[in-house]
Amino acid sequence: MSLELQFEETIAHDQRLEPRDWVPDAYRSTMVRMIAQHAHSEIIGMQPEGNWITRAPSLRRKAILLAKVQDEAGHGLYLYSAAETLGADRAELTEKLVTGRQKYSSIFNYPTLTFADVGVIGWLVDGAAICNQVPLCRSSYGPYARAMIRICKEESFHQRQGYELLMTMMRGTEQQRAMVQESVDRWWWPSLMMFGPPDADSSHTAQSMEWKIKRHTNDELRQRFVDMSVPQADALGVTLPDPDLRWNAEREHHDFGEIDWAEFKQVVSGNGPCNAQRVAHRKAAHDEGAWVREAAAAHARKNDERRGSAA
Ligand SMILES: [Fe+2]
Ligand SMILES: [Fe+2]
Repeated sequence: MSLELQFEETIAHDQRLEPRDWVPDAYRSTMVRMIAQHAHSEIIGMQPEGNWITRAPSLRRKAILLAKVQDEAGHGLYLYSAAETLGADRAELTEKLVTGRQKYSSIFNYPTLTFADVGVIGWLVDGAAICNQVPLCRSSYGPYARAMIRICKEESFHQRQGYELLMTMMRGTEQQRAMVQESVDRWWWPSLMMFGPPDADSSHTAQSMEWKIKRHTNDELRQRFVDMSVPQADALGVTLPDPDLRWNAEREHHDFGEIDWAEFKQVVSGNGPCNAQRVAHRKAAHDEGAWVREAAAAHARKNDERRGSAA
C-alpha cells in the first residue's frame, strides 16, 4: 500500500497517526502550527493570572491560584514535547513566539484588573478552552490527542475553582457582586472570540476537519459554549452583557449578538491592550533562563564524556 493511501486509511478508520507514521508535509505543518499555538497559549496564559498570585486575598486562594498557574506551565511542556515528535525544534518555536511569527490565543492580551478576573477566567476562559479541547482528545495525531486527555482533566479543575470563587464572591457584599459583574462584562465577548473567526472566514477549518485534526467547526463550538454558559450565569446571578441573547425554541439553541470581529482582528494582529507586554515578558523570562539551559547542556556533555572515558 502506498504511504499516502495508508495515511488516508488511518484517518478514515478513526485510528491515530503516530510519530513513526508517514504523513503529508501539509498535515505535519498544520499540526505543528496548531500544537505550537496551543503550547504558546498555555505559557503566555500564565501571565494574566500570575499577576494576582502575590495579591490573592487568602492563603487558600493563593495556593489554588499557584496550583492552577503551574498546571498551565505543565500543559505548555507536554505540548512542546508533542510538537517535537513531529520534528519541530523547541528553541525555534520559542523564537517564533517572541518574534511574533507564531500566535497564541487572543484572550491573553486582555488585562486582569481585579481579583474577580481570576474567577471569571477560570469559569469562562478555561470553560471555553474545555469546549475547544474535549473534541481534540479524539484528534487524529496520537501524541496530541493523548496530551489533551490529561490537560482536559486539569482544565476542568480550573473551571471549577473559578466558578467556586465567583459563587463565594456572589454570596458576599454588594461590592463583591458588582466586581464579579464588571469582570463578566469585560470577559464575555473576548471569550466568544476564543473559538476563532466565523466558519465562513476560517481558512484552516475545512482541511483540519477533513484530516480529523478538528472535529467541530468554530461556530459549532462557540454555540455549545454559549448554551452551556447561560444556565451557569443564571445560577451565579450575573447578567451576560448581550441584549440579543435569548433562547430560540426552533433552533433549540441560544441566539446571540454580533461579535466585534474588528476588535478580534486588532488583538490577533498584535494591537490588543497587552500584546507587547506579554511578549516582552516572555522574552525576558527566556533570556534570563539562558544560563540554566547552558548549564544543563554543559552537565549533559560532561556526563557523556565521563561515560565515554569509563568505557
Ligand atoms: Fe491549560
Ligand atoms: Fe487552564
